[in-house]
Amino acid sequence: MEKLKQKGTHHRGEWGSKLGLILAMAGNAVGLGNFWRFPRMAAEYGGGAFMIPYFIALVVVGLPIMITEWHLGRFGGQHGHGTIGPMIYLQAREKVKPKTALAIGTICGALAFAIPVLINSYYNHIVGWSLNYAVQSLFNQLGHGADLTAAYQSAISNPVQAIGFWVIAALLLAVAASKGIKKGIEAWSKIMMPTLYIFGIVLACFALFTQARPETPNLTAIAGLDFLWHPDFSKVNWSVILAACGQIFFTLSLGMGLISNYASFLKKDDDIVVSSIATVSLNEFAEVVLASTAVVPLAYVFMGDDLLQGGSIGFSFISLPNAFMNMPLGNIVGACWFFLLFFAGFTSALALFNYLVTFIEEGLHSSRKVASWVAFVSLIVIGIPVVLEPMLSNGATQIYFETLDSWVGSYLVLFLGFIELIIVGWFVKPQKTLEGINSGAKAKVPSWVVTVFIRIITPAILLLVIVNATIENAKNGFFSWTGIVPEGGDPAIYALWTNLGRGMIIVVFIFGFIMTLRMLRKTYQHELSKQ
Ligand code: ALA
Repeated sequence: MEKLKQKGTHHRGEWGSKLGLILAMAGNAVGLGNFWRFPRMAAEYGGGAFMIPYFIALVVVGLPIMITEWHLGRFGGQHGHGTIGPMIYLQAREKVKPKTALAIGTICGALAFAIPVLINSYYNHIVGWSLNYAVQSLFNQLGHGADLTAAYQSAISNPVQAIGFWVIAALLLAVAASKGIKKGIEAWSKIMMPTLYIFGIVLACFALFTQARPETPNLTAIAGLDFLWHPDFSKVNWSVILAACGQIFFTLSLGMGLISNYASFLKKDDDIVVSSIATVSLNEFAEVVLASTAVVPLAYVFMGDDLLQGGSIGFSFISLPNAFMNMPLGNIVGACWFFLLFFAGFTSALALFNYLVTFIEEGLHSSRKVASWVAFVSLIVIGIPVVLEPMLSNGATQIYFETLDSWVGSYLVLFLGFIELIIVGWFVKPQKTLEGINSGAKAKVPSWVVTVFIRIITPAILLLVIVNATIENAKNGFFSWTGIVPEGGDPAIYALWTNLGRGMIIVVFIFGFIMTLRMLRKTYQHELSKQ
């Protein structure tokens, strides 16, 4: 039976095999961020030039936090925890009194509860749209040309389509999670992830060999790659550095509690060094190699420079279907792309969902099955405004969605990543952290990874990024009453949905705070009452 009995804690699952673990972690990281966010960001922020801050951020920010989160997770798992609150509490307690550690742990726990819950409240809708488009493409139901904007607006505002596919995606999440770590998450990832890579490789080969159309001979597949990668150094400035760091966080699922949650189901002597590097490599292959070669050249042949005009969502759900519908066998190619997007999104949504399941299991001492269905109901309730807004506006606005994505998916994650580094780097002796990371590792990380990176360089860069992101956001109207109103936008409508989004963030944070505090007090009452 897939159960691990731990002293004084409830039963927790564990990974069945090394390959399964790596595929599940890759599933956690490889997501919609790789395929709909990355190509648009690269093209918008200077093509090849964007890749310089991107790769620097990957090495000096991404890798150290990835290793820290694997370590934090395995450490937490050994104490029977899969959520950030108690993990941070236990690490902080090494240096400060239990009551101070309780305050730090509770704040981090609330943040780490709010982040995955709120991200999944909109992310899972895109997973549903991907499934909807995959089915429509397979049966040749996608429209042509300008119809596609209308088709997209209808897909997100038509109650049957928008609610139906979203609920199916959420139901699948609950079924997978309720089966447990090995039989659910691992088993499903073992099917979905290899399929995703195969679809990606097939699409990339197909895209690279797509011929230019006679009416537009200059729009070749290679010109499409040049369009994406041509370095424009004049575009490298602070916003590009922020965008690069934000993309690294989003794509690697950092600052969301997800990596630590999956790592909490490891065995004591699993090698986390090799596994962290494998996760990053698989993610970067999917992002830098597959995402850019699989579809950008293809879309370029049919649309030229216009392909990225509609932002990330427009790229996936309007530009690409346009290209698919204009090519021979486009419905099959389109179905491959949307199933790829669905598998990528689903396996990441599963990691977001599993965090909530673990939180409920730990907080309410319920079984995994019950926790999975409670999480399902919560996900539906909290996702209602995301589907309601396009329905009320006929698909014209998604302000609530954008508010959550910019506040939570791009901004709050940086804070959680920063606090984790400070606690693991400064509240625990460096030697102890190093031993924790290297326990079970075949190739051990050198001590400077902890003393120079985890303690100093990575948090310092992150602090700089947070300060500049805050200044940049303030300049753009991010903190104003109405939020960011585009030209021609109605400030009253923007104020309504923006503040509803902000209100939701506050409510979920407070709920996470109360639940974490209650759980920590109950679990550690003995040492907390001693002071
Ligand atoms: N890492 C996940 C993604 O890229 C959240 O979509």
